[in-house]
Amino acid sequence: MKLTFLGHACVLLSGTKSVLIDPFIPDGVLPGNPDMVAVTHGHADHLGEAGRLGRPTVAINEVAKYLKEQGVPAEGMNHGGAITLDGVVFRMTPAIHSSWIEEAGPGYNGGGCAGFVIGMDDIQVYHAGDTALFSDMKLIGELYHPDVALLPIGGRFTMAPEEAMIAARFIGAPLVIPIHYNTWPVIRQDPVPFKAALERTTDIRVAILKPGETITVP
Ligand code: NI
Ligand code: MN
Repeated sequence: MKLTFLGHACVLLSGTKSVLIDPFIPDGVLPGNPDMVAVTHGHADHLGEAGRLGRPTVAINEVAKYLKEQGVPAEGMNHGGAITLDGVVFRMTPAIHSSWIEEAGPGYNGGGCAGFVIGMDDIQVYHAGDTALFSDMKLIGELYHPDVALLPIGGRFTMAPEEAMIAARFIGAPLVIPIHYNTWPVIRQDPVPFKAALERTTDIRVAILKPGETITVP
């Protein structure tokens, strides 16, 4: 499987199928026609272009309902559940965060916020969504054994590197990719000390990807 970081929290998984997660790129171009889309929550920097793309989209019930009203073939699900689309397995994990659908104007509650463990081609990729650190991340490791963990490190709205260090240990994925930082000044972080500290104290490797950069996983 190839994994392309497209900036902020947007990641494209390319294997048997192409899966686009959180289709928001601040100043880039989204890959046009992914086979499917996963949206962690309703905030504009995650819901992004999901409405315009119009591809089969996995999201928490409330966001899925909103997308269906926009004509998107969305599949609703909820924390702790799983859905298989075209051979790709999406497991929805909790995330501690909020979810207002800003693009809907006042009055649209996006339900909760989620992460996903996405299984394709025998590889499990955990995208944490926007979240605080929580100790049940240990269960995500124990249940799904992710090969890769995409973890927010920007702070203010999510974990910062200090918390993400502990999250990475809880999850135990051999590869961690920091996301959700440096998009705007309010979430400025240096990922280099995070990588150095985690690699010095654990067997976990950290890949710092530039927007547009692709790696092969695992
Ligand atoms: Ni958010
Ligand atoms: Mn966000």
